[in-house]
Amino acid sequence: MGAQQVREGFAALYGAAPEGVWSAPGRVNLIGEHTDYNDGFVMPFALPHATTAAVSRRDDGVLRLHSANLAGDAGGVVELSLDALEPQSDRSWTAYPAGVVWALREAGHPVTGADIHLASTVPSGAGLSSSAALEVVIALALNDLFGLGLQRWQLARLCQRAENVYVGAPTGIMDQTASACCEAGHALFLDTRDLSQRQIPFDLAAEGLRLLVVDTRVKHAHSDGEYGKRRVGCEKGAALLGVDALRDVPYDGLDEALARLGDDEEVRRLVRHVVTEDQRVERVVALLESGETRAIGPVLTEGHASLRDDFRISCPELDLVVDTALAAGALGARMTGGGFGGSAIVLAEAAEVDTLGKAVEEAFAAADFTAPRVFEAVPAAGARRVS
Ligand code: GLA
Repeated sequence: MGAQQVREGFAALYGAAPEGVWSAPGRVNLIGEHTDYNDGFVMPFALPHATTAAVSRRDDGVLRLHSANLAGDAGGVVELSLDALEPQSDRSWTAYPAGVVWALREAGHPVTGADIHLASTVPSGAGLSSSAALEVVIALALNDLFGLGLQRWQLARLCQRAENVYVGAPTGIMDQTASACCEAGHALFLDTRDLSQRQIPFDLAAEGLRLLVVDTRVKHAHSDGEYGKRRVGCEKGAALLGVDALRDVPYDGLDEALARLGDDEEVRRLVRHVVTEDQRVERVVALLESGETRAIGPVLTEGHASLRDDFRISCPELDLVVDTALAAGALGARMTGGGFGGSAIVLAEAAEVDTLGKAVEEAFAAADFTAPRVFEAVPAAGARRVS
């Protein structure tokens, strides 16, 4: 939905034009999965799919929220009192924007209320960070309107806090940073320990390549226990190894670390995934920087095997996308995002992408799975003011 429509939607709801309109994208992660809460490396890029928010300030401690996609229970405007915002008191979509307002105020920023109308083109529950897009668009709008002067990485941190504490999902920092900091035509190489970042040019079209996203339509939910269990398992691994985070296990010290973990097979598998995945991110960065883009394909596929076999967060639909795409000639394929459903990415020669997409659709039909949503991803811009 365009900025103009969202602006008009706001005026129709609240009886006046908004002070401005902001937009924040969803993301796919090229490589670096479940490394962000281990202080490791990630490499997401922004999608053209975004959440758009028309926003005006209020000074009476009231937050009014409306979404064109996700109307409140009564289908109308949801009105909340800022003083009554309470972590984990809200199980609906409004917890995300309300959580951001809560996190800003809790950090001492003078946000006194707002009227907000939203519309999103980011598919929800598809592992494409619809939640982060929603959080970041609100944080950026309020940062601008209330003159808070926060930098993008700070906004990302506050959004993560909103999601961890207010919503109650124990996610890392990748998605919010991707939505806030990505640049068009680039993937974001992010060190989640200190949030240092490098924009890596990622222009597939120039090399005759394309990247498909396949949304399996299997819904994932991070507040569910499995994501949290992996996180706790990783923390246990770090504690047993005497390091602050699994990031601190050197690549060439992995075998020794695994030996030290003895017969705790579950923790060994988690540790092996995280350490090898950090290394895969660095390998992908090196390949892209030396112009060997096609060579990242097998690294992506290795990443999938690690998530499937060691981290154990794939599902039959994701595996079917990967197996079918590879059998049909893809350069590489892997699940992306938190797992347990959601989306996969497929890297392929431009000329082969249509055949590949069809092969995946046919395989889903033959397996009696819900038809997937297949689209091409071109790295888009991060969050911004649009009018
Ligand atoms: C979700 C979380 C991220 C990250 C990924 C897995 O998207 O929100 O913080 O942990 O899963 O890489």
